[in-house]
Amino acid sequence: MVEFQNTMDEAARTGRAWRVGVLFSQTGVTAAVERTQLQATLLAIEEINAAGGVLDLPLEPVLYDPQSNPKLFRTLAERLLVTDRVRLVFGCYMSSSRKAVLPVIEANRGLLFYPTLYEGFEYSRHCIYTGAAPNQNSLQLARFLFEHYGSRFLLVGSNYVYPYESNRVMSDLVRQNRGKILNEIYVPLAARPADFGRAIQEIKKHEPDVIFSTVVGKGTAAFYEAYRAAGFDPARRPIASLTTGEAEVAEMSSEAAEGHITAAPFFETLGTAAARRFVTAYKDRYGGDAPVPASAEAAYFQVHLAAAAIARAGSADPERVLPELSEIEFTAPQGRVRIDRENNHTYLWPRVARLDARGHFQIVWNPGLRVRPDPYCVVQTLDDWSSDGIASATAAASHAG
Ligand code: ACM
Repeated sequence: MVEFQNTMDEAARTGRAWRVGVLFSQTGVTAAVERTQLQATLLAIEEINAAGGVLDLPLEPVLYDPQSNPKLFRTLAERLLVTDRVRLVFGCYMSSSRKAVLPVIEANRGLLFYPTLYEGFEYSRHCIYTGAAPNQNSLQLARFLFEHYGSRFLLVGSNYVYPYESNRVMSDLVRQNRGKILNEIYVPLAARPADFGRAIQEIKKHEPDVIFSTVVGKGTAAFYEAYRAAGFDPARRPIASLTTGEAEVAEMSSEAAEGHITAAPFFETLGTAAARRFVTAYKDRYGGDAPVPASAEAAYFQVHLAAAAIARAGSADPERVLPELSEIEFTAPQGRVRIDRENNHTYLWPRVARLDARGHFQIVWNPGLRVRPDPYCVVQTLDDWSSDGIASATAAASHAG
């Protein structure tokens, strides 16, 4: 049972369960990764309930399938808050869906727990951001790429808000390193291999050092397969990404995946005890081949953080949960995490990994530092990531690539 320190409020005593909303797509463009977020959310809820629930009451998920469609996300968020009378919602992958949902959450005094890396430059008092902000993934990725491959970048992304904004941050870093952005290309969200024809032509024409991909969802496998079919060598010129995780890699051949680079706070292959426990529990529950990406890990630990905060508050009222959230530290699979009271984002552990011949991420740079979230990139330099000074005893800094 989650430990409680405050008295239970009326809702806890009279209700049968803590009802929470869950909004992850099971269909549509980003279903593969959102399914992992849904499953990780339900795994955490099951674990908490098996241990006695929160203040002796179980968490009860109320879930809908928003079909990777921002308008449907908004409609279903409204249903959760107004009809189902739920105040805490776990959900959203694409930034377009978060942006569609947040006005509804704010108007109904709810709290959204958002477990996905995103472009930064946002704060809502009604949102807890548990995925990486740019100073926790873009900065480390850029630094690794400059050191190992060069700084002439071609940018290829899906046509929506996250790729545009993430590319803006990456472009600033490239220019800071006296590098060059050779071109910036956008493809439709549900891109097929033919949609990458222009990107392939541009790579042939400019011969960049690195392709920075902000392609999301189903189009990712199409892009990596097209890249392989064109005969490019990832060992010399990789695709680097923040959105190509285990779920997207599971949809491509290992030949198409090998040699490409991703930065994230968690990889399925992490060797720490907490990571092994989580991955084992996930695969026992959902199958040995089920991919376990960073977005699922954040979906998992944010439920544990929320449950601990409800227990401390004795209430699921966001006004009472919010101040408790920044008082808690939780041993997440990636390392110890906590929420920054000032910006509602999370202290995280950046890592960089390269895909091996089996399509598994092998960590090539593990700084071993927990990094304070800086969503507005106040400190936007390659050498200062606003580390909070906490270093892992086991994850010594290493350059293996
Ligand atoms: C994203 O749209 N935040 C990946």
